[in-house]
Amino acid sequence: MAVPLFDTKTPLAPLRDDLDARVRAVMDDGRFILGPEVSAFEADFAGYLGVAHAIGVANGTDALTLALRALDVGPGDEVVVPSFTFYASAEAIGPTGATPVFCDVDPVTMCVTAETVRAALTPQTKAVIVVDLFGNVPRMDEIMALGVPVVEDAAQAAGSTFQGRRAGSLATVATFSFFPSKNLGAFGDGGAVTTDDDAIAERVRMLRFHGSRDKQTFELVGHNSRLDEMQAAILRVQLPSLDAWCDGRRAAAAHYEAAGLGEHAALPVPVEGADPAWHLYVIRHERADELAAALRAAGIGHKVYYRRPAHAQPAMAPYPPRVPLPGTEQAARTHLAIPMSPVLTREQADEVVAAVRDARLD
Ligand SMILES: Cc1ncc(COP(=O)(O)O)c(C=O)c1O
Repeated sequence: MAVPLFDTKTPLAPLRDDLDARVRAVMDDGRFILGPEVSAFEADFAGYLGVAHAIGVANGTDALTLALRALDVGPGDEVVVPSFTFYASAEAIGPTGATPVFCDVDPVTMCVTAETVRAALTPQTKAVIVVDLFGNVPRMDEIMALGVPVVEDAAQAAGSTFQGRRAGSLATVATFSFFPSKNLGAFGDGGAVTTDDDAIAERVRMLRFHGSRDKQTFELVGHNSRLDEMQAAILRVQLPSLDAWCDGRRAAAAHYEAAGLGEHAALPVPVEGADPAWHLYVIRHERADELAAALRAAGIGHKVYYRRPAHAQPAMAPYPPRVPLPGTEQAARTHLAIPMSPVLTREQADEVVAAVRDARLD
């Protein structure tokens, strides 16, 4: 039995009639940019997270750039960012004119810690990007205590919690991607910035619309970066299902544990205090490439995400790491994502674990 890496279709099937109706309603209404669906989704999503503001933007990369610009990050400033993340976490610093400063991750949780962040701070540090990697949530309490504004990149962590609070509500400002494969995914690109800070929210609202409050006067050189009405409508239909889908992801992780996966590979480890809604289920193995080949032969979905971490990407050559990154290098070498979805069954988990066991790489 082949097991796919993701299953985005099955969870959406029960929502199909609602989705059809809401998409049709947007077409009938005829307002496609910053209309009632975007406002309603922003209110729904802020309520879900327990924050004062959610601002819909075009994608998760823009969400980071706008959040940084709202913090007044600019040329001459430094922004600390982990290297072991999707490249966009670091790329998003570029348009602000600030310098990315790479920090390390803990090789077990694959997340930043207060220590790895502290090691990269300098008097020029204006902000830190903390990534909720794979749905895991770093020790945000300890990182916030460092006293530097924190942008929580929660692109991979919709529905995760830390100390009982939702990912996306834990830092100075947070960002989401609604890329279709995410825990909460649109039918195209989408993103959001979330915060309790009124001034940051107001600035992000201006920045997403060409730096204007009233569409007449342009106070900043901004961006054209809006969540569109159709995607907002689609996300509103899905949001009430997010917690159930996240429980399905947690159940899938429990299936892997019960099936004995931990005897053959290192399982994902939640950060203390975190309850991850695993976006990706990423195991670690010293012979990850051989394991990937065995899974391919067995028809089991798998993917290596960040074998070449952000600091080693050609575009980041002007920003060589200033601190050693041993955790990053270890995670980059050993990680391997295996199937994860809200509907992954025990039978599918057994199939995956059998393929890992049969690879005989222990
Ligand atoms: C951690 C992280 N940050 C940022 C992004 C960028 O989001 P987007 O693709 O919506 O621009 C992604 C995902 O794609 C991501 O996984």
